[in-house]
Amino acid sequence: MVSFKSLSSFILASVIGTALANPAPVTRDLAKRGNVLQGQYDSESELGGRFILENNLWGQSSGSGWQKSQATGTGTGNAVIWYTTYSWQGGQYNVKSYANMDLKVGMGKTIAQIGSIPTIFNWHYGSASGDLVADVSYDLWLSRTPGTQGATSSTTYEIMVWLSTRGGAQPAGSRIGTANINGQNWTLWKGTVQNWTVFSYVPPYEMVNFSQDLKPFLTYLVNTQGVPSNQYLVQAQAGTEPFVGTATLNIDWYTMAVN
Ligand SMILES: *[C@@H]1O[C@H](CO)[C@@H](O)[C@H](O)[C@H]1NC(C)=O
Ligand SMILES: *[C@@H]1O[C@H](CO)[C@@H](O)[C@H](O)[C@H]1NC(C)=O
Ligand SMILES: *[C@@H]1O[C@H](CO)[C@@H](O)[C@H](O)[C@H]1NC(C)=O
Repeated sequence: MVSFKSLSSFILASVIGTALANPAPVTRDLAKRGNVLQGQYDSESELGGRFILENNLWGQSSGSGWQKSQATGTGTGNAVIWYTTYSWQGGQYNVKSYANMDLKVGMGKTIAQIGSIPTIFNWHYGSASGDLVADVSYDLWLSRTPGTQGATSSTTYEIMVWLSTRGGAQPAGSRIGTANINGQNWTLWKGTVQNWTVFSYVPPYEMVNFSQDLKPFLTYLVNTQGVPSNQYLVQAQAGTEPFVGTATLNIDWYTMAVN
Protein backbone atom coordinates (compact mmCIF):
# COMPACT_ATOMS: atom_id res chain seq x y z
CA MET A 1 0.00 0.00 0.00
CA VAL A 2 1.28 3.40 -0.79
CA SER A 3 0.45 6.95 -0.03
CA PHE A 4 0.80 9.65 -2.58
CA LYS A 5 2.79 12.58 -1.34
CA SER A 6 3.56 15.18 -3.90
CA LEU A 7 3.74 15.15 -7.63
CA SER A 8 6.41 17.79 -7.73
CA SER A 9 8.81 16.25 -5.26
CA PHE A 10 9.51 13.19 -7.31
CA ILE A 11 9.84 13.54 -11.04
CA LEU A 12 9.96 10.29 -12.88
CA ALA A 13 13.29 9.37 -14.27
CA SER A 14 12.62 8.33 -17.82
CA VAL A 15 15.45 5.84 -17.81
CA ILE A 16 14.28 2.43 -18.88
CA GLY A 17 16.63 -0.30 -17.78
CA THR A 18 16.94 -4.03 -17.94
CA ALA A 19 17.69 -5.75 -14.67
CA LEU A 20 18.88 -9.10 -15.88
CA ALA A 21 18.66 -11.24 -18.95
CA ASN A 22 15.57 -13.37 -19.13
CA PRO A 23 16.64 -16.83 -17.87
CA ALA A 24 13.39 -18.61 -18.54
CA PRO A 25 12.64 -20.65 -21.64
CA VAL A 26 9.65 -19.00 -23.23
CA THR A 27 7.19 -21.85 -23.56
CA ARG A 28 3.63 -20.72 -23.41
CA ASP A 29 0.48 -22.75 -23.16
CA LEU A 30 -2.31 -20.56 -24.41
CA ALA A 31 -4.83 -23.31 -23.71
CA LYS A 32 -4.63 -22.10 -20.11
CA ARG A 33 -6.22 -18.74 -20.90
CA GLY A 34 -8.40 -17.84 -17.94
CA ASN A 35 -11.48 -15.73 -17.37
CA VAL A 36 -11.56 -11.97 -17.71
CA LEU A 37 -11.85 -10.78 -14.11
CA GLN A 38 -13.60 -7.44 -13.76
CA GLY A 39 -15.50 -7.34 -10.48
CA GLN A 40 -14.05 -5.50 -7.48
CA TYR A 41 -12.68 -8.65 -5.85
CA ASP A 42 -12.83 -11.19 -8.67
CA SER A 43 -10.18 -13.85 -8.42
CA GLU A 44 -9.14 -17.06 -10.14
CA SER A 45 -6.97 -19.98 -9.14
CA GLU A 46 -3.96 -20.56 -11.40
CA LEU A 47 -1.72 -23.62 -11.80
CA GLY A 48 -3.90 -25.81 -9.62
CA GLY A 49 -4.00 -23.38 -6.73
CA ARG A 50 -0.35 -22.39 -6.68
CA PHE A 51 -1.38 -18.82 -7.38
CA ILE A 52 -4.55 -16.78 -7.21
CA LEU A 53 -4.98 -13.98 -9.72
CA GLU A 54 -6.71 -11.17 -7.84
CA ASN A 55 -8.41 -8.31 -9.65
CA ASN A 56 -8.36 -6.48 -6.33
CA LEU A 57 -9.96 -3.06 -6.83
CA TRP A 58 -9.95 -2.21 -3.11
CA GLY A 59 -9.67 1.56 -3.61
CA GLN A 60 -12.01 2.02 -6.58
CA SER A 61 -14.46 4.21 -4.66
CA SER A 62 -11.82 6.93 -4.23
CA GLY A 63 -12.26 7.75 -7.93
CA SER A 64 -13.98 6.32 -10.96
CA GLY A 65 -12.98 3.87 -13.63
CA TRP A 66 -12.59 0.20 -14.33
CA GLN A 67 -9.99 -2.55 -14.38
CA LYS A 68 -9.82 -6.05 -15.81
CA SER A 69 -7.25 -8.79 -15.36
CA GLN A 70 -6.74 -12.09 -17.13
CA ALA A 71 -4.30 -14.97 -17.07
CA THR A 72 -3.40 -15.80 -20.67
CA GLY A 73 -0.98 -18.68 -20.32
CA THR A 74 1.42 -20.68 -18.26
CA GLY A 75 5.01 -21.68 -18.78
CA THR A 76 7.70 -24.03 -17.58
CA GLY A 77 8.79 -23.71 -13.97
CA ASN A 78 5.32 -22.75 -12.71
CA ALA A 79 5.24 -19.52 -14.70
CA VAL A 80 2.06 -17.56 -15.25
CA ILE A 81 1.46 -15.02 -18.01
CA TRP A 82 -1.18 -12.40 -17.37
CA TYR A 83 -2.18 -8.82 -17.92
CA THR A 84 -4.23 -6.13 -16.28
CA THR A 85 -5.82 -3.22 -18.11
CA TYR A 86 -7.46 -0.21 -16.54
CA SER A 87 -8.59 3.38 -16.70
CA TRP A 88 -8.87 5.38 -13.47
CA GLN A 89 -9.80 9.01 -12.96
CA GLY A 90 -10.21 11.20 -9.90
CA GLY A 91 -8.88 10.81 -6.40
CA GLN A 92 -5.37 11.25 -7.74
CA TYR A 93 -3.73 10.76 -4.35
CA ASN A 94 -5.39 7.40 -3.76
CA VAL A 95 -4.44 3.95 -4.97
CA LYS A 96 -7.38 2.36 -6.78
CA SER A 97 -6.33 -1.24 -6.88
CA TYR A 98 -3.71 -3.93 -6.57
CA ALA A 99 -4.27 -6.43 -9.34
CA ASN A 100 -1.82 -9.14 -8.39
CA MET A 101 -0.64 -12.72 -8.62
CA ASP A 102 -0.77 -14.09 -5.08
CA LEU A 103 1.41 -17.10 -4.19
CA LYS A 104 -0.51 -19.66 -2.12
CA VAL A 105 2.17 -22.28 -1.47
CA GLY A 106 5.22 -22.11 0.78
CA MET A 107 3.71 -19.74 3.33
CA GLY A 108 4.01 -20.24 7.07
CA LYS A 109 7.79 -20.14 7.45
CA THR A 110 9.61 -17.58 9.52
CA ILE A 111 12.22 -15.37 7.87
CA ALA A 112 14.87 -17.48 9.61
CA GLN A 113 13.40 -20.67 8.10
CA ILE A 114 13.33 -19.33 4.55
CA GLY A 115 16.33 -20.24 2.42
CA SER A 116 15.44 -18.30 -0.70
CA ILE A 117 12.55 -16.66 -2.55
CA PRO A 118 13.47 -16.94 -6.23
CA THR A 119 11.25 -14.97 -8.56
CA ILE A 120 11.07 -13.86 -12.16
CA PHE A 121 8.85 -10.90 -13.01
CA ASN A 122 9.10 -9.92 -16.67
CA TRP A 123 6.69 -7.17 -17.58
CA HIS A 124 6.11 -4.23 -19.87
CA TYR A 125 3.49 -1.58 -20.40
CA GLY A 126 1.61 -2.49 -23.57
CA SER A 127 0.24 1.03 -23.35
CA ALA A 128 0.40 3.78 -20.76
CA SER A 129 -1.19 7.23 -20.80
CA GLY A 130 0.96 10.29 -20.24
CA ASP A 131 -0.82 11.06 -16.98
CA LEU A 132 -0.23 7.59 -15.54
CA VAL A 133 0.59 7.49 -11.83
CA ALA A 134 1.35 3.90 -10.80
CA ASP A 135 3.86 1.49 -9.40
CA VAL A 136 4.70 -2.08 -10.33
CA SER A 137 5.60 -3.95 -7.19
CA TYR A 138 5.94 -6.98 -5.00
CA ASP A 139 4.13 -6.99 -1.68
CA LEU A 140 5.34 -9.35 1.06
CA TRP A 141 3.47 -9.64 4.33
CA LEU A 142 4.89 -10.65 7.71
CA SER A 143 2.88 -11.74 10.70
CA ARG A 144 3.49 -12.70 14.29
CA THR A 145 1.54 -15.90 13.65
CA PRO A 146 1.67 -18.36 10.72
CA GLY A 147 -1.11 -18.09 8.17
CA THR A 148 -1.86 -17.35 4.55
CA GLN A 149 -3.20 -13.81 4.64
CA GLY A 150 -1.67 -10.38 5.00
CA ALA A 151 -3.34 -7.21 6.26
CA THR A 152 -4.83 -8.87 9.34
CA SER A 153 -4.73 -8.01 13.04
CA SER A 154 -1.58 -10.19 13.28
CA THR A 155 0.26 -8.33 10.52
CA THR A 156 3.51 -6.80 11.73
CA TYR A 157 5.32 -5.72 8.55
CA GLU A 158 4.53 -5.12 4.91
CA ILE A 159 7.56 -5.17 2.62
CA MET A 160 7.25 -3.81 -0.88
CA VAL A 161 9.82 -4.12 -3.64
CA TRP A 162 8.98 -1.67 -6.39
CA LEU A 163 10.17 -2.28 -9.93
CA SER A 164 8.65 0.87 -11.39
CA THR A 165 7.26 4.17 -10.28
CA ARG A 166 5.63 6.49 -12.78
CA GLY A 167 4.08 9.92 -12.48
CA GLY A 168 5.35 10.67 -8.99
CA ALA A 169 4.01 7.65 -7.11
CA GLN A 170 5.82 7.27 -3.80
CA PRO A 171 5.76 4.64 -1.07
CA ALA A 172 4.16 5.20 2.32
CA GLY A 173 6.20 7.14 4.85
CA SER A 174 9.54 8.70 4.09
CA ARG A 175 12.96 7.82 2.74
CA ILE A 176 15.27 6.44 5.39
CA GLY A 177 18.31 5.58 3.31
CA THR A 178 19.85 3.47 0.62
CA ALA A 179 20.14 -0.30 0.73
CA ASN A 180 22.48 -2.33 -1.41
CA ILE A 181 20.67 -5.57 -2.23
CA ASN A 182 21.80 -8.12 -4.81
CA GLY A 183 24.35 -5.64 -6.09
CA GLN A 184 21.95 -2.76 -6.66
CA ASN A 185 21.27 0.40 -4.64
CA TRP A 186 17.63 0.75 -3.65
CA THR A 187 16.06 3.68 -1.88
CA LEU A 188 14.49 2.40 1.33
CA TRP A 189 11.28 3.95 2.67
CA LYS A 190 9.58 3.39 5.99
CA GLY A 191 6.04 4.22 7.02
CA THR A 192 3.02 3.02 8.93
CA VAL A 193 -0.23 1.73 7.47
CA GLN A 194 -3.00 0.73 9.86
CA ASN A 195 -1.21 -1.31 12.54
CA TRP A 196 1.89 -2.39 10.72
CA THR A 197 5.21 -0.98 9.53
CA VAL A 198 5.76 -0.73 5.79
CA PHE A 199 9.23 -0.88 4.26
CA SER A 200 9.47 -0.16 0.54
CA TYR A 201 12.44 -0.57 -1.74
CA VAL A 202 12.46 1.73 -4.78
CA PRO A 203 14.89 0.90 -7.60
CA PRO A 204 17.29 3.33 -9.26
CA TYR A 205 15.59 2.77 -12.61
CA GLU A 206 12.63 0.90 -14.03
CA MET A 207 13.37 -2.83 -13.88
CA VAL A 208 11.32 -4.44 -16.62
CA ASN A 209 12.80 -7.93 -16.46
CA PHE A 210 13.48 -8.77 -12.86
CA SER A 211 14.99 -12.09 -11.79
CA GLN A 212 16.32 -12.14 -8.25
CA ASP A 213 16.08 -13.79 -4.86
CA LEU A 214 13.82 -11.72 -2.58
CA LYS A 215 15.20 -13.23 0.65
CA PRO A 216 18.05 -10.66 0.84
CA PHE A 217 15.42 -7.88 0.95
CA LEU A 218 14.10 -9.46 4.16
CA THR A 219 17.55 -10.21 5.57
CA TYR A 220 18.57 -6.59 5.14
CA LEU A 221 15.65 -5.46 7.31
CA VAL A 222 16.51 -8.04 9.96
CA ASN A 223 20.12 -6.87 10.01
CA THR A 224 19.57 -3.12 9.89
CA GLN A 225 15.96 -2.27 10.82
CA GLY A 226 15.19 -4.51 13.77
CA VAL A 227 12.70 -6.74 11.97
CA PRO A 228 12.63 -9.95 14.04
CA SER A 229 13.62 -13.04 12.05
CA ASN A 230 10.89 -15.02 13.82
CA GLN A 231 8.18 -13.22 11.85
CA TYR A 232 6.18 -15.43 9.49
CA LEU A 233 5.84 -14.80 5.77
CA VAL A 234 2.10 -15.14 5.19
CA GLN A 235 1.52 -13.62 1.76
CA ALA A 236 3.63 -12.78 -1.27
CA GLN A 237 2.13 -10.89 -4.18
CA ALA A 238 3.26 -9.17 -7.36
CA GLY A 239 1.20 -6.65 -9.27
CA THR A 240 0.53 -2.99 -9.80
CA GLU A 241 -0.96 -0.07 -7.90
CA PRO A 242 -2.44 2.61 -10.14
CA PHE A 243 -3.58 5.98 -8.82
CA VAL A 244 -4.81 7.55 -12.07
CA GLY A 245 -4.33 6.96 -15.76
CA THR A 246 -5.01 4.41 -18.44
CA ALA A 247 -2.69 1.50 -19.09
CA THR A 248 -2.26 -2.12 -19.97
CA LEU A 249 0.42 -3.88 -17.97
CA ASN A 250 1.58 -7.14 -19.54
CA ILE A 251 3.22 -9.67 -17.26
CA ASP A 252 5.17 -11.72 -19.79
CA TRP A 253 6.51 -14.22 -17.29
CA TYR A 254 5.95 -14.55 -13.56
CA THR A 255 7.22 -17.13 -11.12
CA MET A 256 7.88 -17.21 -7.40
CA ALA A 257 8.71 -19.88 -4.85
CA VAL A 258 9.52 -19.87 -1.14
CA ASN A 259 12.22 -22.37 -0.27
C1 LIG B 1 -5.21 -2.03 15.26
O1 LIG B 1 -5.04 -1.92 16.64
C2 LIG B 1 -6.17 -1.48 17.32
C3 LIG B 1 -5.79 -1.23 18.76
O2 LIG B 1 -5.05 -2.30 19.27
C4 LIG B 1 -7.28 -2.50 17.16
O3 LIG B 1 -8.44 -2.07 17.80
C5 LIG B 1 -7.58 -2.68 15.68
O4 LIG B 1 -8.51 -3.71 15.51
C6 LIG B 1 -6.33 -3.01 14.93
N1 LIG B 1 -6.59 -2.99 13.51
C7 LIG B 1 -6.27 -3.97 12.71
C8 LIG B 1 -6.57 -3.76 11.27
O5 LIG B 1 -5.75 -4.98 13.11
C1 LIG C 1 25.90 1.97 -4.47
O1 LIG C 1 26.21 3.05 -3.61
C2 LIG C 1 27.56 3.04 -3.18
C3 LIG C 1 27.72 4.13 -2.12
O2 LIG C 1 27.19 5.34 -2.59
C4 LIG C 1 28.45 3.24 -4.39
O3 LIG C 1 29.80 3.25 -3.99
C5 LIG C 1 28.21 2.12 -5.37
O4 LIG C 1 28.96 2.35 -6.54
C6 LIG C 1 26.74 2.01 -5.73
N1 LIG C 1 26.52 0.81 -6.49
C7 LIG C 1 25.82 0.79 -7.61
C8 LIG C 1 25.66 -0.54 -8.26
O5 LIG C 1 25.29 1.78 -8.08
C1 LIG D 1 11.89 -9.45 -21.08
O1 LIG D 1 11.48 -10.80 -21.12
C2 LIG D 1 10.57 -11.10 -22.16
C3 LIG D 1 10.17 -12.55 -22.03
O2 LIG D 1 9.59 -12.79 -20.80
C4 LIG D 1 11.22 -10.82 -23.48
O3 LIG D 1 10.31 -11.07 -24.52
C5 LIG D 1 11.66 -9.38 -23.54
O4 LIG D 1 12.37 -9.15 -24.72
C6 LIG D 1 12.56 -9.04 -22.35
N1 LIG D 1 12.79 -7.61 -22.37
C7 LIG D 1 13.98 -7.10 -22.18
C8 LIG D 1 14.05 -5.62 -22.22
O5 LIG D 1 14.95 -7.79 -21.93
